[in-house]
Amino acid sequence: MFTWGVATSSYQIEGAATAGGRGPSIWDTFSRVPGAVINGDSGDVACDHYHRYNEDLDLIKWLGVNAYRFSIAWPRIFPQGAGSPNQAGIDFYDRLIDGALERGITPWPTLYHWDLPQALEDKGGWNSRATSERFAEYAHLMAEKFGDRVKNWTTLNEPFCSAWLGYLYGVMAPGIKDLQTAINASHHLLLGHGLATQAIRSVASDLRVGIVLNLTPAIPLNDNDELAAKYADGFDNRWYADPVFKGSYPQDIVEGFGKEVPIHAGDMQSISAPLDFLGINFYTRQTVTLDESAKPLHYRPVMVDGVERTAMGWEVHPESLTNIIMRVHRDYAPKEIYITENGSAWDDSVINDKVDDPHRVSYLERHLDAMLAAKAQGAPVNGYFAWSLMDNFEWAFGYAKRFGIVHVDYSTQKRTPKSSAHYYRERIAKGL
Ligand code: FCB
Repeated sequence: MFTWGVATSSYQIEGAATAGGRGPSIWDTFSRVPGAVINGDSGDVACDHYHRYNEDLDLIKWLGVNAYRFSIAWPRIFPQGAGSPNQAGIDFYDRLIDGALERGITPWPTLYHWDLPQALEDKGGWNSRATSERFAEYAHLMAEKFGDRVKNWTTLNEPFCSAWLGYLYGVMAPGIKDLQTAINASHHLLLGHGLATQAIRSVASDLRVGIVLNLTPAIPLNDNDELAAKYADGFDNRWYADPVFKGSYPQDIVEGFGKEVPIHAGDMQSISAPLDFLGINFYTRQTVTLDESAKPLHYRPVMVDGVERTAMGWEVHPESLTNIIMRVHRDYAPKEIYITENGSAWDDSVINDKVDDPHRVSYLERHLDAMLAAKAQGAPVNGYFAWSLMDNFEWAFGYAKRFGIVHVDYSTQKRTPKSSAHYYRERIAKGL
């Protein structure tokens, strides 16, 4: 059966930042740094999903999807990053998982969608190798508690964003800007993935494990920009996919960085342990050009004119989804592929209690077709999760960008399915 789902993540929707013994995460800290998040927004309340999860599960059921991709907030489970787990946090996900199953919805949790316990960041965060071990312990506990009901486990969501945006560009938590720290973070994230994979598998043999990577095709601006495209592909895609599927970092990028990766004996074997599935998050493609002054690699993205763009400024290019799936199938041959996120932000407005979002409908329709084209060409694509179930805290953009197929009025917490939700529902009902 094809997996149809919707996706969310803990910090973006849960709110209830101090309820049930939750400890602070790096996003609680970062969102309080002046200027870090648009309008000074934070996930303190977000969609208040922590209290409204039953209503949200009803909405998911109404959509007719058969799976729900959410993430577990590590700081609800280990408020101090390690030590004794917090029972109230475990109880919340118990209720959420049972609530999904009661409605015939398969839970697809991600263990790390960027909300590192602040206590671990205080000890070095992903710059520290010890964080990989703490992550594996947390993964083991989650598999023990929920593995009787949850069979599909995702370790990390988009390590590219955690490492490059969090520790190199500093535009996401924890807001550090240092290349060596970012390289260390990327390696420790991947090591954490490898150790967590072993930990989950040690709990029960029927648990399936995967990782979610955001993959972005790079297009050369001019004929002489091929090298720029190769660098961009290496930085965005190969840096994360090569270690996971081939057990090594791409040599051209290692050389381009001119830094050491802190690899210990056995790390690459852990990182490249065979997986049950790869999750691909796909939003856009980028056009790039060579630039000798650019760091850390000599290329930069270019905003080309005359193309369709979302409210994020991201180019809409559905064929790139077909292409990236076929490329992954050819170069990395994962056993199964799931599109774990795909969606678009637009400036929606509520008129007479309705939200008509024709751009999002069109984006969704064309990307579903693009995914099915790759499936028809033989790629093992077995599922699709729309990003996102509902409008939520869009990281450094706060509440200013809306990706939901369901509208959220943050002053009342009212949920209103947009035209795109109706479209998705009808399309799923028709089958592939
Ligand atoms: C992805 C993130 C997700 C959301 C979308 C728009 O990079 O995984 O949380 O912010 O982008």
